[in-house]
Amino acid sequence: MEKYVIHGGKKLEGEVTISGAKNAAVAIVAATILSDGPCILDNCPQISDITFCMKILRSMGAEIKLLNKNKVRIDTSGIVVPKVPYEMARVMRASSYFLGTLLGRFHEAHVALPGGCDLGDRPIDQHLKAFHALGAEDSIENGEVHLNAESLIGNLIYFDINSVGATINAMLASVKADGYTVIENAAREPHVVDVANFLNSMGADIMGAGTDTIKVRGVKKLKGVEYSIIPDQIEAGTFMVAAAATHSDIMIKNVIPKHLESITAALRKIGVGVEEFDEAVRIYPCGELKRTSIKTMPHPGFPTDMQPQISTLLTLAHGASVVTDDIFDNRFRYVSELRRMGADIVVNDKAVIIQGVEKLKGAPVMAPDLRAGAALVIAGLAAEGTTEIGDTHFIERGYENIVEKLQKLGADIQRVDKEDPEECVAVKKQA
Ligand code: EPU
Repeated sequence: MEKYVIHGGKKLEGEVTISGAKNAAVAIVAATILSDGPCILDNCPQISDITFCMKILRSMGAEIKLLNKNKVRIDTSGIVVPKVPYEMARVMRASSYFLGTLLGRFHEAHVALPGGCDLGDRPIDQHLKAFHALGAEDSIENGEVHLNAESLIGNLIYFDINSVGATINAMLASVKADGYTVIENAAREPHVVDVANFLNSMGADIMGAGTDTIKVRGVKKLKGVEYSIIPDQIEAGTFMVAAAATHSDIMIKNVIPKHLESITAALRKIGVGVEEFDEAVRIYPCGELKRTSIKTMPHPGFPTDMQPQISTLLTLAHGASVVTDDIFDNRFRYVSELRRMGADIVVNDKAVIIQGVEKLKGAPVMAPDLRAGAALVIAGLAAEGTTEIGDTHFIERGYENIVEKLQKLGADIQRVDKEDPEECVAVKKQA
């Protein structure tokens, strides 16, 4: 088991380049199943969630070739059985995208109910509502979702709640359906738009992605294409907050500043300098950190995936802050770990109440999930002394080379093997 060892309190400097967006990539990799020819995906992040997606594709008979570190050729023509077994699906929430893509191509899908980060109950009723509207029958047996449709026919899909996954699955299942589909109350996240752009580049006819109404005119064929995935909004936001928490001046490259607007606005309110360029943002210190209140919302609101990181920053701000996040049930599991580092933070129903402290102090902590783990990395970078973070595999689900990127920015962070006591000692001696 690996852990990160951070000797905190150092300022970051220089520049960092953001990788491709995890939440776009997991859907786009699955969407290659709908293509009638091989696809080449560029800016594909090297993270464990993508490795799992590739494993799922390979297990079904796809041919995958890595052309370089972030460029991959995927040929799904060899897939004949539309089934993702439990041992594959359980690891990752995004395995639900195989429901939409397999149904779209084979009019049949058998996918074990997806796992993923434990953020509380994560139902798929809205996904099933979309498939049903298109003409599919569903059943759940032995923890597996079975979908069958004689044909898929365009229809009106109205979502009762705003769901990224259900919106993407509705597009995936309807893109080759007969006729016209209208998706109402659609999610507007940048990755929803990226998936629509990918499908359109293959010859799909999707309009309105990025608004709450998406219109899909079904097509018979989708050709193989070369496509570059958008930069990761949340990875960029995480580095922005890491810079703010360490009072650093850094340049974050390969970003779409428009996607970062809500994060930029929150940071400015807290008193952090943010300068926007065409494809970069600079973060710089601007006096003391100020208290604020934030509520997470679907895009273009403040993203739930940035809630643990911004709350961590606010533990160091002057005064009392409240951060409310009711999108998932269980997104505050980092709070008790932060308290062990000296933070004054408590959970109150769907919010955290934070009283800013002078400094955080290093401590051994465990990453409870992906974004909570990223928040603990930020805490470790800002804290006085040594922080050891366990269960870092959660962090590596979604952050490409996070340790190496932080080291390049001058952070004192090492990835060490917990089972290797000599290495741990060596790292401690270096400090
Ligand atoms: N929901 C339902 N029924 C459904 C679908 C969703 O009740 O059929 C509820 C969820 O339980 C949740 C809310 O709707 O309360 C929003 O869930 P959504 O479907 O939008 O989330 P998701 O598609 O499962 C994606 C990201 C998450 C991100 C959320 C919200 C991927 C692979 N995952 O999840 O990313 O937090 O949207 O923006 O795209 C992360 O990257 O750390 C992460 C968890």
